Amino acid sequence: MLTEKQIQKLSDFIKPRMSKKRYTHSVNVANEAAKLAKKYGVDEDKAFAAGYLHDCAKELSQEKQLELMKRSRFPVDKIEFSAPPLYHAVAGAVVAGEEYGIDDEGILAAIRFHTIGSPSMSGLAEIIYLADLVSEDRDYKDVKRMRKIAYEGLNGAMLEALAFSITDSVKKGNSIPPATLMAYNHYIEKVKSIKGKEGK
Ligand SMILES: [Fe+2]
Ligand SMILES: [Fe+2]
Repeated sequence: MLTEKQIQKLSDFIKPRMSKKRYTHSVNVANEAAKLAKKYGVDEDKAFAAGYLHDCAKELSQEKQLELMKRSRFPVDKIEFSAPPLYHAVAGAVVAGEEYGIDDEGILAAIRFHTIGSPSMSGLAEIIYLADLVSEDRDYKDVKRMRKIAYEGLNGAMLEALAFSITDSVKKGNSIPPATLMAYNHYIEKVKSIKGKEGK
């Protein structure tokens, strides 16, 4: 469990960086991530902190986000560079590392991939991706179904979440980053092989 002081430190860092609405979202994602972490045997404190921090760069100017993104140690695809709504994930990992002082690679990767996913996500990264999609403040059409699926197995939930995200991008006429497609293929194979082993 994080101490009250550690939670206060997260709150003091995040709160001035965003609107009230996004702050509520951040707290909700942190709580949801901790719940999912408990369910799946992932470090709850790391999940809570990563959830709290995941959108820390979202309300910076686009120029600032781009500048931070260019400094990232994570590879960034050219489709991401052409999609400003995706900047904040890469930029957020830089802010969490350089300004908040997170040195845990797992937390940084979870923040970096919470928008596009990746075929090599850790349990922690999967949890942040899912918590962002099903947190209490979300109210899109399929959210109830997604909430249920999130607690029925990480691979199946990731597959469903990625399919949802890809379908949404197709509908909007947006490009899809290669990492997202590779992640989708990764989880579809994983789910198939699990079903194969179970003889379904
Ligand atoms: Fe985000
Ligand atoms: Fe978010």
